Amino acid sequence: MILLGIESSCDETAAALVEDGRTILSSVIASQVEEHKIYGGVVPEIASRRHSEAIVGVVRQALEQGGMSLSQLDGIAVTYAPGLIGALLVGVNFAKGLALSTGLPLIPVHHLRGHIASNYLSHPECRPPFLCLVVSGGHSHIVLVEDYTRLKILGRTRDDAAGEAFDKAARAMGIPYPGGVEMDRIAEEGDPNAYKLPHPHVEGAPLDFSFSGLKTAVLNLLNNARQKGEEISVPDLCASYRKAVVSCLTENFFRAAQETGVSTLAAAGGVSANRLLRRELTRLAEERGLQLFLPDKSLCGDNAAMIASQGYYEFLAGNTAGMDLNACAQRSIE
Ligand code: KG4
Ligand code: ZN
Repeated sequence: MILLGIESSCDETAAALVEDGRTILSSVIASQVEEHKIYGGVVPEIASRRHSEAIVGVVRQALEQGGMSLSQLDGIAVTYAPGLIGALLVGVNFAKGLALSTGLPLIPVHHLRGHIASNYLSHPECRPPFLCLVVSGGHSHIVLVEDYTRLKILGRTRDDAAGEAFDKAARAMGIPYPGGVEMDRIAEEGDPNAYKLPHPHVEGAPLDFSFSGLKTAVLNLLNNARQKGEEISVPDLCASYRKAVVSCLTENFFRAAQETGVSTLAAAGGVSANRLLRRELTRLAEERGLQLFLPDKSLCGDNAAMIASQGYYEFLAGNTAGMDLNACAQRSIE
């Protein structure tokens, strides 16, 4: 079964062809990140316009690269939630038009379920049940993937998402958007023990995260240094901050593994590309004798192959939509 996947929830317009949820036939991503950089973050209005301009070409290219015509497809999977509403609407409306004109089934896919599916594309042997650390620019969840379409949130962030925490702290250090990526690179050169940062816990909810206190600690550290005329080592601060965020993520994640007794783990989302997070997850999983899947680095960020992959399992579960499908800015992964 060959599905066309379409993704437009944030600042990437993407289309891909995937066979049986597991094999990528083509994957095209048009990123707008350079344009948003000058504003220090994604400008929703600009994102929607760029999606509208790019989507026809991106879908056409995905079909060409996969050597397929529309008549050879079996369905159209599209991200319908969560994300920037105007951005989502471009993909959803395009997919609806295509489904109407071809008669192909329309399959709505939750963006974060798509991120989890990047593991199905990276590892043929990865299948539920497993515990997944979903860490993106907008969300941080510990998710029990009971089955491909039956998911349960065990822990979540109470304030900033992990990616947001990286991006905001990076911005304060003068690193351009999306700072998480660059901070990870700079941190490799720094001393992770140079600056002492808090390790926030959420009272009464040991699987939940809170990153806003960490971000405030960095802002205070930078302000104090500025006032005193002291020099801050950006590589050392990046390394210390990255270590603090990663240790919060891994502590709760392995606690969840212990509490649930689930022995297979995975990570997903833009932040799962983080070098230290990948090293730490690998080390801790090995130490505990747990199986760990990490998505291929090329599939950690937003792409449409992951949407087509999850779309396959949604289709098998009977989750298709009609022409009344709407985009949703917020919707739970459950
Ligand atoms: O999943 P994603 O591409 O988009 C959303 O669904 O939000 O995640 C983007 C986020 C951004 O905050 C970006 O800074 C972060 O993922 N990110 C990273 C790394 N690569 C991307 N954060 C830390 N280290 C990285 N290597
Ligand atoms: Zn994403």
